[in-house]
Amino acid sequence: MSVSAIIAAAGSGERFGAGYPKALIQLGDRTLLQHAINALAPVVDQIIIAAPTGFEQQISELVGDGITVVSGGATRSASVRNALAHVASDFVLVHDAARALATTDLAERIIATLRSGSSAVVPGLLEVDTVKSIDDKGRVAATLDRSTLRRIQTPQGFSTQVLRDAHASGAEATDDAALIELLGGTVIVIDGEDRALKITTPADLDSALSFLGFNRSFRTGVGTDAHAFGEGRTLWLAGLHWPDDVGVEGHSDGDVAAHAICDALFAATGLGDLGSNFGTNRPEYADASGSMLLQETLALVTDAGYAISNVTVQIIGNKPKIGSRRAEAIEALSKALGGAPVSVSATTTDGMGLTGEGKGIAAVASALVYKR
Ligand code: CTP
Ligand code: MG
Repeated sequence: MSVSAIIAAAGSGERFGAGYPKALIQLGDRTLLQHAINALAPVVDQIIIAAPTGFEQQISELVGDGITVVSGGATRSASVRNALAHVASDFVLVHDAARALATTDLAERIIATLRSGSSAVVPGLLEVDTVKSIDDKGRVAATLDRSTLRRIQTPQGFSTQVLRDAHASGAEATDDAALIELLGGTVIVIDGEDRALKITTPADLDSALSFLGFNRSFRTGVGTDAHAFGEGRTLWLAGLHWPDDVGVEGHSDGDVAAHAICDALFAATGLGDLGSNFGTNRPEYADASGSMLLQETLALVTDAGYAISNVTVQIIGNKPKIGSRRAEAIEALSKALGGAPVSVSATTTDGMGLTGEGKGIAAVASALVYKR
């Protein structure tokens, strides 16, 4: 049984006040409309967008081939009706572009409920406020029983024929389920999602951004390390063994890249430094591998409530040449950090100071973390 999706995107966004249609507002790296499309595309066979009059061409170009764009109407119900005429499937989801962050999982659960025999399914959230109805003088007429109330969202799912019948009268409502209710049809409510909020005002855009992780409070730190070459030592660097190169002196395996990253993470999280956490007074860390220290650091950082956004490390030395093993180094370091994004670069210092004299290897790292 195939499924189509209608995305109602023809509103002007008066309350948002952007001066252009709300569906085209940017949320993170894409527009509200593109977020809505991305959520539904994996689970539907056809997508039809009701676009604001005059914006059909712009929206067609934005969404690309394979998506039908029709002109919307003066009301949401009229916009849905225009799109419904193009639906070619047994089931149809009707979604608001304004609910940009509803997930694919929600759409899947709506479709699963349709497949199990329901002809109208909507997502709803529990009401947390006390809700009262009022009369035309602003006096309370009744206090409603909150436990029976649900805040209804989209995507809403229907048997296409049932939705066509409901729209045949040309009636108006703020959602599609209401038209089914008018005909006495049964509408099932399943659990909605907080992140499927309807973006109506600029304040809602802030809430949406927080669902995308944009209002995280970040902290940054730097770390450096340097070790002198030591004859007879095995070289470990950036989590890798370098069998053809001379190793460095050190309490542990002397992996300056790993150590600099540990220090950057400790600095970013205010947890001290390599010495205070794994220093010579902690004999259990003598000869510890760089990878092990990274894993231990990750555990401490995680315990303190932080997650890693990314780390970078630059290795400074004449030898070894990093370039050909960069991908391996990134993989090893990232693995030790639970999959965090890592970048590795390398440089020499033109024969001067630091490691330019060829006496050893140094590394400088930066870390960006955020409070979970
Ligand atoms: N919608 C539509 N056609 C209309 C009016 C609304 O397709 N004539 C769509 C909107 O694009 C939105 C959804 O219906 O995705 C819910 O409407 P709403 O949040 O009210 O959006 P707008 O009507 O654009 O906003 P406003 O009411 O503030 O102007
Ligand atoms: Mg509106």
